[in-house]
Amino acid sequence: MSKVNDIEELIAGRSAEEILEVISGLSSEKIVFSTSLSYEDQVITHMIFSKKLNIEVFTLDTGRLFSETYSVFNSTRGKYKREIKTYYPRTEAVENMVSTKGPNSFYESVENRKECCYIRKVEPLKRALTKKTIWITGIRSEQSANRSDMRQVEWDETHQLIKVHPLLNWTFEETKAYINKHNIPYNSLHDKGFVSIGCQPCTRAIKTGEDFRAGRWWWEDSTKKECGLHTN
Ligand code: ADX
Ligand code: SF4
Repeated sequence: MSKVNDIEELIAGRSAEEILEVISGLSSEKIVFSTSLSYEDQVITHMIFSKKLNIEVFTLDTGRLFSETYSVFNSTRGKYKREIKTYYPRTEAVENMVSTKGPNSFYESVENRKECCYIRKVEPLKRALTKKTIWITGIRSEQSANRSDMRQVEWDETHQLIKVHPLLNWTFEETKAYINKHNIPYNSLHDKGFVSIGCQPCTRAIKTGEDFRAGRWWWEDSTKKECGLHTN
């Protein structure tokens, strides 16, 4: 556990960019950043790619993403000419689920929704994090009640590694301003009321004043909706 404290000390008072620089300099660590191509993740991707930091960038393609998400994936590759390693769900698991329950089983019960998230996101994430020691995310505390009391550096019991959230204290406005200032490609759905963007069938735009994650799995009755990527 002391490694968490060491890293916490190392990054204390530093900007997000400095945090990434300091972490990427830890030569004994195997560091990865997971991107969903959202606003927050594009900020971190820009910092990593433009500074050529020693951090692998990966995404989980669930097979159910918006076409706008694939567009920004493509323009990001074009701009930075760097690899975004892509993980897919296991073919057999998707085939079994869809054959037995249909393509939209997630609307029928929370259990089905969790099964789909497990197959399409959680299991591929496990593979992406194998043998890695530090996992960087684009989580911001403002995003949900669950995330409001997170620490910038934490121990992930499930994956047995350290998680770092460089943008934890950034506001939505700061994130947007950074994207505009640096002319970073972003998901065009952000201009249409989408804040938190996941899979197409499970994400919708939110109205002014609604919670940031209100558009995710909107049919479920819970304030602590998570897909299992970030639950210990
Ligand atoms: S989720 O748990 O609801 O799906 P959210 O969309 O808020 O997560 O994103 C939080 C962080 O999880 C992102 O900054 C990113 O690091 C990671 N993440 C979410 N979805 C993906 C994805 N499809 N591929 C890679 N990383 C992802
Ligand atoms: Fe399946 Fe929806 Fe979860 Fe995507 S967000 S993995 S489509 S249940």
